[in-house]
Amino acid sequence: MNSTRERWASKLGFMLAAMGSAVGLGNIWRFSYVAGENGGGAFLILYLASILIVGIPLLLVEVSIGRKAKSDVVGSFQTLAPKKPWYLAGFLGVFGALLILGFYSVIAGWSMYYFWNYLTGQFFTVPEQGYGAAFEIFTTSTAQPLMWHAIFMVLTITIVLTGVKKGIELANKIFMPALAVLLIILTVFSLSLDGAMEGMRFLFQPDWSVLGNPSVYIAALGQAFFSLSLGVGAMMTYGSYLSDHHKLPGATVGIGLMDTFFAVISGIVIFPAVFAFGIEPDSGPVLVFITLPDIFSQMPFGGFVGILFFLSLTLAAVSSSVSLLEVPVAYLMRVAKWSRKRASIFTGMVIFILGIGASLGMGAWAGFTPIGQHNIMDSMDYIASNVFLPLVGLVMALFAGWHFSKKEALTAADLGHHPVGNWWYILVKYFAPVIIVIIFLNTLGIL
Ligand code: TRP
Repeated sequence: MNSTRERWASKLGFMLAAMGSAVGLGNIWRFSYVAGENGGGAFLILYLASILIVGIPLLLVEVSIGRKAKSDVVGSFQTLAPKKPWYLAGFLGVFGALLILGFYSVIAGWSMYYFWNYLTGQFFTVPEQGYGAAFEIFTTSTAQPLMWHAIFMVLTITIVLTGVKKGIELANKIFMPALAVLLIILTVFSLSLDGAMEGMRFLFQPDWSVLGNPSVYIAALGQAFFSLSLGVGAMMTYGSYLSDHHKLPGATVGIGLMDTFFAVISGIVIFPAVFAFGIEPDSGPVLVFITLPDIFSQMPFGGFVGILFFLSLTLAAVSSSVSLLEVPVAYLMRVAKWSRKRASIFTGMVIFILGIGASLGMGAWAGFTPIGQHNIMDSMDYIASNVFLPLVGLVMALFAGWHFSKKEALTAADLGHHPVGNWWYILVKYFAPVIIVIIFLNTLGIL
C-alpha cells in the first residue's frame, strides 16, 4: 500500500540526513548555553551518560519503529498498535516539533544575520559598542529578526517541499565536514587565549556540588534528547523512508558519536573564550553570539572564518529544521491527503507565527515570562525539551519494551542475532524508562 512512499536513495543518504538532523544549533548554541547555566563539568558528565544510556538506545528505538511501520509519528503507532492509545504520544510529537521549530528558526535567523554581517564586512571589526551590545540591539528590535526568521522558514519550506533527499543530502555532504574543520581550527585559537585554561577547567573539571540541584539532571536529559533529535518522531519519520535491508545499530551509534563530537568540540571552542573575554558562562541563549565574534576578531583572517562559520552553522541548522518540519508534513500528507507542497507551506506558516512570539519575547514582549524568569523563547525551549521530548521518548521506550515482544523489538532493531541485543533490550525496557521517570519526579520535587 505504501508503494508511492518516498525512500532514501541509499543508506548513506539516510545517515547523512539523520546526522544532519542531529547536528545543528543544538550542538553549538544550545549545548554551550545549557552547559554554562548548569555548572559545566558535572553537567557534561550527566549529558554524556544520558547520550549513552538513554539517547543512543532510544535513537535505535525511534528509527526502528519508523522503519517497521513506514509511517509518520502518529501513523506508526497506529499501524503497529491499532486501536491502542499509543498514537496519542504521536500528537505530542507533532506538537513538540512545531514548538521547537518555532524558536529554532528564530535562532537560525540570528545565525543568518551574522553570516550576512560577516559577508558585508560589518562584523570584521568590533562594532563601536562591542559585539554584545550590537547583538542586543539587533535581537530586541522587532522587524529585523522577524525578517531573518521568515527567510529561514522559506528556506526550510523550500527544501522540504522539494522532497527530502535531493536538498538535504547535498548540503550535508559539504557543510558538515566544513563545520567540523572550522571548529577544530577554532579550538586552536580559543585555547591560545589568555584565561583559556579556566574555561577548560569549567568544562572538564566537574564541580560535583551542582549535582545537588535537580534541574541539572533534567537539563542534561533534555539536551541529550534535543541534540539527538529524539522525542518528536523526526528520527522515526526519517526511519520510515528506509528499506528493511539497511542495518540500523551501527548507523545509530555513528550518529550518536558524531553528534557528541560536535558538542564537545564546540564546548572546547566556546568556554575558553567565555572566560578570556570575561563573559558570564550562564549568560543563557545569547552566549555563542557574543563569544564567537570576539574570537574571530582576534584571529588572523577572522572575518573570513566568520563568513564560513556562520554559513556552516546556518546550513547545519537548515538540515535540522527540515527534519522538524518533516514531522507535521508527513502527518498531514497522510491524514489530510495534502500534497507535499501544500503541507509544507501551511505548516511552515504556522511555525512562522509561533516563532513571532519567540522573537518578540526578546524585545517588545520581554516583560512576558510564561515560566519563572524565562522569556517566551526560553519557555518554549524549556517546555519542549525538558517535558515533551523526554515524555514522548519514555512512551517510545515503553512501546518497544512492553508493547513489542522481545523478539519483535530485537528484530525491528536488527539486533536479533547480536550479542549487544540483550543489553539494549534491558536498557530500553527497564533502565531508560526508570531513569526518565526518576528525573521527572525529581524535577517536580516529588523525589
Ligand atoms: N538536533 C537538532 C540540533 O541539535 C535539532 C533538532 C532537529 C531536533 N530535529 C529535532 C530537536 C527533533 C528535537 C527533536 O540542533
